[in-house]
Amino acid sequence: MEKTDQELIEKIEELRYELKAIILAHNYQREEIQDIADILGDSLGLSQDAARADAGVIIFCGVHFMAESAAILSPEKTVILPCPDAGCPLADMVTPEALRQKKAEHPEATVVCYVNSSAETKAESDICCTSANAVRVVNSVQEDTVLFIPDKNLGHFASQHTNKKVILWEGYCPIHHWVTPEEVIKARQAHPRAAVVVHPECQPEVIKLADHVCSTSGMISYAKKVNTDELIIGTEIGMLHRLRKEVPEKRFYIASPRLICPNMKKTSLTSVLTALENLSLVIKVTEPIRQRAKLALDRMLAIPRDR
Ligand code: 13P
Repeated sequence: MEKTDQELIEKIEELRYELKAIILAHNYQREEIQDIADILGDSLGLSQDAARADAGVIIFCGVHFMAESAAILSPEKTVILPCPDAGCPLADMVTPEALRQKKAEHPEATVVCYVNSSAETKAESDICCTSANAVRVVNSVQEDTVLFIPDKNLGHFASQHTNKKVILWEGYCPIHHWVTPEEVIKARQAHPRAAVVVHPECQPEVIKLADHVCSTSGMISYAKKVNTDELIIGTEIGMLHRLRKEVPEKRFYIASPRLICPNMKKTSLTSVLTALENLSLVIKVTEPIRQRAKLALDRMLAIPRDR
């Protein structure tokens, strides 16, 4: 007989305690996964928390590149991704070979690599960034030219806040990229008192219409401080659960009904329990790649947090 959610949660609690495991979850995860997580966060926060975590086993409820970053930063920990096929189409839009070719065309450029990328791609890059610190990272490098990979929208956003020349890569998140300016205008008409906050993976035309642009966790601080009690949110729909919990006195509306990431929704209570029972879906990175990718992540983590 299938277990109820309550039974699954009880079993997860039991095993988590026994194994001294912690559950990290991204802000886009299903509500029931967010609710059992020890730590919830954006890509930057989770990579920092994974590195700091005092636990032998990390169950990473997110997508592959996020768990991989945790494994790169903490090779002594067992990092498990409950759904091994939870990928990121944006990360797949750059390969190490294509990057090497582009680097040869632009030897003067520093490669800034969005963490939504594979370990091999990070290993070919100079420094990583997330949506929370992209502007700061671009401005931190010494060279005047930056090759920004793989998200052209985030790269374009960063280029608007720097004097450096930013060469963009032709990649995008299929979920954020397809939010249209018309949808945002329609949402504003439906909720005229609401502030519009969007993720920098949205297109420049959408970003232009927003009152604020930030990472997923940045949206929580913005929602708390903004002088309005309604917000239109331009990011994956899972974020609304987090916002409603953190800022219960305000109302949140999604900018587009299509803002659903199928990969982020793959993790379920059953897959978390199976991951804890089998401890088999371990994310591993070969040592030479890990060391080079870690260098790019460490350079990013050395930059103070910016939200
Ligand atoms: P954040 O770093 O803002 O959480 O974004 C992660 C992501 O993958 C956005 O699509």
